[in-house]
This record gives sequence, C-alpha cells and structure tokens, in this order.
Amino acid sequence: MNESGSGQTAPAARSTSVSVDVPAKINPHLGVGDARADGFHALSTVYQAISLYDTVTAERGDESGVKLTISGEGAGVLPTGEDNLAVKAAKLVAIYGGVEPDVRIHLNKRIPIAGGLAGGSADAAGTLVACARLWEVEIGDAELHRLAAGLGSDVPFCLKGGTAVGSGRGEELTRVAAKGPWHWVVATTDTQISTPECFKEVDRLREDGIGRFSSDVDAIVRAFESGVGADKLAHLLVNDMEAAAVSLRPQLASLMHGGLEEGALAAHVSGSGPTVLFLASDVKHAVALARRIRMRGGARSVHIAEGPVAGPAA
Ligand code: C5P
Repeated sequence: MNESGSGQTAPAARSTSVSVDVPAKINPHLGVGDARADGFHALSTVYQAISLYDTVTAERGDESGVKLTISGEGAGVLPTGEDNLAVKAAKLVAIYGGVEPDVRIHLNKRIPIAGGLAGGSADAAGTLVACARLWEVEIGDAELHRLAAGLGSDVPFCLKGGTAVGSGRGEELTRVAAKGPWHWVVATTDTQISTPECFKEVDRLREDGIGRFSSDVDAIVRAFESGVGADKLAHLLVNDMEAAAVSLRPQLASLMHGGLEEGALAAHVSGSGPTVLFLASDVKHAVALARRIRMRGGARSVHIAEGPVAGPAA
C-alpha cells in the first residue's frame, strides 16, 4: 500500500490518496451443492489468491459523493455508477464511519473481467480497505468481514488472500496455512460467463443427472499444508462448475486440451470460467508453457501467476 499527500509536514497528517493492490482468486477446489432457499448455492471450496492484481486508488475529491474511473481491463464496458461494487463498498465505509463521502476512486484493472477470477469482488475488497484508510475509519475484523459478505460471496476472501476453505455461500472462511508457491498459467478467452448463468447451467446439468457435489476438501487442504509438489496437486484439482462452463462455451475444451498437449500438469477452469488455469511445475516451466500456449492461439491473453499471495487486509 502507498499513501501520499501531506505526509511531509506532520506524521499524523491525513492522507489525500491511498493505493491498494488486491489479488485475483482461483478455486483449486470448487464443490457446488444444491441451490438454497435464498437462491445461493452451498459451496465447499478452497480459495487461493494469485499474483494478478488490480490497483484501487482512493483520493479525496473536491465535491461530495463517490466518483469512479476505470483503466485497463473492462474500461468503457464496466459500469462506473451505483451498479459497480466498488462504489457500493465506498458508500458502506462512509455509512459505517459516519463520514460524508468525498472520494475519487480509480481502478487500474489487470484482472480479466467476468472470467472467474473475482475481479469485481477484488475491487470491492480493495475499496473497503482504501476508503477505511483514507477516511481513518477503524473497522474491526468481524465488522469488515460482515461488510464484505454483504457485497458478495467472494469479497471476504478477497480481503484476506492467502489460501482458505470457503463454506456457506463461499463467505465463511477458514484459513489454510499453505506452503507453496504453486505456479499457474492463466489463459483468458474472448468470451465471458456471468456467475449466475454458470450456476444455472450446473442446476440444469444436475437435473439431467450430470455432476455431483464434491464436498470433501480434506485431501487438497492437507496437500497445500504440506507444500505438495505440483505433479501431485494436479490430481487433486476439482471444479464442479467446469462441465457447466464447457457446456456454455464449448471452445474451452480445445483450449484446455491444447495446454495439456503443451505440457501443462493440469487444466482447470477458474471458478465459473471462462478463464482456464494451467498448472506448471515451477516458474521456469510456467514461462515456457505460457509462451507455447500463446503461440498456439485460442486464448485472448496469457499470464503467469503464483499463489498464494496475501490480500489487502491479511
Ligand atoms: O455473491 P455474489 O453476488 O458474487 O453472487 C453472484 C450470483 O452468483 C448470485 O446472485 C447467485 O446467482 C450466484 N451464486 C450462487 N451461489 C453462490 C454464490 C453465487 O448461486 N454460492
């Protein structure tokens, strides 16, 4: 985090600008249960934060209100008004702290949008932290978690980062002391999948008897805690949404097969997709694999990332 502004005059002077880097998340295990009465699905997931970051900058504005601008991924496409989770997050901090919001928020986005990497949730988490620091609003851990969970199921994890088991609708977290790092190639596609759309497809496939709830996370949690080699981790990756994502975007299958042919240890749809993750054995392998997947075509962009990394409120 960087703070700038009036710091040179007095140590206690208020910042005029706060920047927070907030990582993307992946789900090495994503078990999806039945839809609950509230419409959300019961989840049994393992989250891990990876080194692909959006930067949230909160600056004191001249006028009252919350102004949002976006550069990078999704600029010109994502909403910048009340519909953006970052605007909602800033307003929640203002209400909680009893302050009049007077903030310009800028999102410099590198996390691909609608790709199953929780970019929007990451921005909300980053905004909670940045605005609390800018306005000097003290928010305890439990309260911050409550505000985050009200914004979205993934937002609590995006605050913490690292590795965690998620239950409930994904918002109930238990930290996992994972060793690592593990190395991933992250391949985005030029389509998007909305999260609700993918959950509906899971329900539809289940009605046809396809897929079941992978509720047991013990093996992969133990593997992360013991710092298991990537070759073994490859056999433990689970995503109950993968069949739904491939059913919605059949071109994912050839992207996944292509990465495996190029030597990936595993191909794994990220969350509700359509981003595909390829597991590499080490950083050197990840760099070479990324180059080969790029040359093969079929992906919109190809990145390398490692996990776990810390979140902004770790
Ligand atoms: O929690 P969040 O607002 O990110 O969820 C977006 C949508 O994804 C929900 O409205 C719901 O349709 C679906 N969802 C779900 N079960 C979950 C999490 C999300 O059905 N556990």
